[in-house]
Amino acid sequence: MKKVGVVGCGLMGHGIVQVAAQAGFDVVAVEAEQGFLDKGLGRIRKSLDKLAAKAVEKGKKSAEDAKSDADGAFGRIHGTVDKSDLADCDLVVEAIVENLDVKKALYAELGGICKPETILASNTSSFPIAEMGEASGRPENMVGLHFFNPVQLMKLVEVVRTDATSDDSFAKARAFGEAVGKVPVGCKDTPGFVVNRLLVPYMVQSLLMLERGDATKQDIDAAMQFGCGHPMGPITLTDYVGLDTTLSILQGWCERYPDEPAFAIPAILEQKVSEGKLGRKTGEGFYKWDGDKKA
Ligand SMILES: NC(=O)c1ccc[n+]([C@@H]2O[C@H](COP(=O)([O-])OP(=O)(O)OC[C@H]3O[C@@H](n4cnc5c(N)ncnc54)[C@H](O)[C@@H]3O)[C@@H](O)[C@H]2O)c1
Repeated sequence: MKKVGVVGCGLMGHGIVQVAAQAGFDVVAVEAEQGFLDKGLGRIRKSLDKLAAKAVEKGKKSAEDAKSDADGAFGRIHGTVDKSDLADCDLVVEAIVENLDVKKALYAELGGICKPETILASNTSSFPIAEMGEASGRPENMVGLHFFNPVQLMKLVEVVRTDATSDDSFAKARAFGEAVGKVPVGCKDTPGFVVNRLLVPYMVQSLLMLERGDATKQDIDAAMQFGCGHPMGPITLTDYVGLDTTLSILQGWCERYPDEPAFAIPAILEQKVSEGKLGRKTGEGFYKWDGDKKA
């Protein structure tokens, strides 16, 4: 695998472009509009320069080598708004907006553009990979590659296979995850894969506890932080993830799997979202926030 395409250069996409370029792949970064592309590439340049400065500071590289590595990685990225530039990519990772209809339309397009052996990978957090594979017309080439935010720092990538994914596509996607410095874990095409299937119901249970008045939010968070050694409690975590994001994942799951008891929507979550209190990003969720710190 030599040439990788990434569609969507937003929060996740720009990170995927960056780690792929740093690992030596030629990368085609596709955005919907030039302005979004410029923004994504700007973020990558800034991040590469920051990493270079850190490497020099820690004595890991000379200033010259650090600059040359950063320039080299950036030079391997070809930014474009023309999807036909993806034609000869060995792998295309999609990281566009979390909307299944929009994603399916893109996969139908990619099926017509990419060479027959191109592996198609979605970074979706909540949609069935199989539906996108069907839309592409080449379900055997379709996998999930679920990276975590921030991609540059988080070590995990979930590699998702559907019933139709070929062994070869799965193995190559897993190898790509390793090549970009991640720990790949395999998983079937199940809701939430591994991490979110465990994490989101846990967040839900903490909100139901709060709703019932079993304990205060501070005590629920302190319990998991100091009793289980988690870096933060579940209610603080919900503020970090975003209440709207959490709600939309749950709404999708509840609609598709109405009989699964672990998928419930706490009224307190719906209430906060309807008030526009979406968590840290809006300055208030379950807590009030002043930037990165609780107010
Ligand atoms: N944000 C997270 O923490 C996170 C974590 C894991 C996975 N994801 C998943 O990654 C995907 C992207 O999320 P994000 O947070 O980076 O979103 P984002 O809104 O930051 O970025 C999406 C980008 O895709 C571009 N885009 C939309 N439609 C396009 C199209 N048809 N062609 C080309 N570009 C298009 C947009 O212009 C935007 O820049 C989603 O599927 C999301 O579920 C997000």
